[in-house]
Amino acid sequence: AESTYIMVKPDGVQRGLVGEIISRFERKGYTLKGLQMCICDKAKAEEHYKDLAGKPFFPNLVEYICSGPVVCMIWEGTDVVKAGRNLIGVTNPTDAAPGTIRGDFGVEVGRNLVHGSDSIENGAREIALWFGSEEAVEWEPTMTPWIKELN
Ligand code: GTP
Ligand code: MG
Repeated sequence: AESTYIMVKPDGVQRGLVGEIISRFERKGYTLKGLQMCICDKAKAEEHYKDLAGKPFFPNLVEYICSGPVVCMIWEGTDVVKAGRNLIGVTNPTDAAPGTIRGDFGVEVGRNLVHGSDSIENGAREIALWFGSEEAVEWEPTMTPWIKELN
């Protein structure tokens, strides 16, 4: 099944939005397969956002991501990469639709609360970067047949 890497950024943790963000993915019908908290170091933040290394905001982005604890998650389910980005909303909270996480709780692009992988390939890359091989949990909710049309 498809997986994505979702991370509550330091502002989301400081503002007490961890439960709210987890809840939106749970209620949608996705399955939590990994969960941990850490304080990111500079090297890891640079690796995570390496595609943006040339951008003028890159140093501020790295500083932001390392500025406090983050909550790291693996979410699994049908089209979860795309739908996860839809739950989060577009990059700039000013433009993010009400009903999305950034649209409901964010104000500025440099404090946009949550990260979501932008492709299946980057999802796999980011999960491998943030989680050890033993740290993902293999399980299937008993309610899966009420969420997914099987076979
Ligand atoms: P992520 O889910 O965090 O990857 O965000 P995204 O995919 O919506 O946007 P992108 O990957 O292009 O940028 C990564 C992060 O860099 C954004 O979430 C913002 O926190 C930050 N960022 C992007 N563009 C800008 C910008 O123009 N100014 C500032 N200050 N930060 C930016
Ligand atoms: Mg991105």
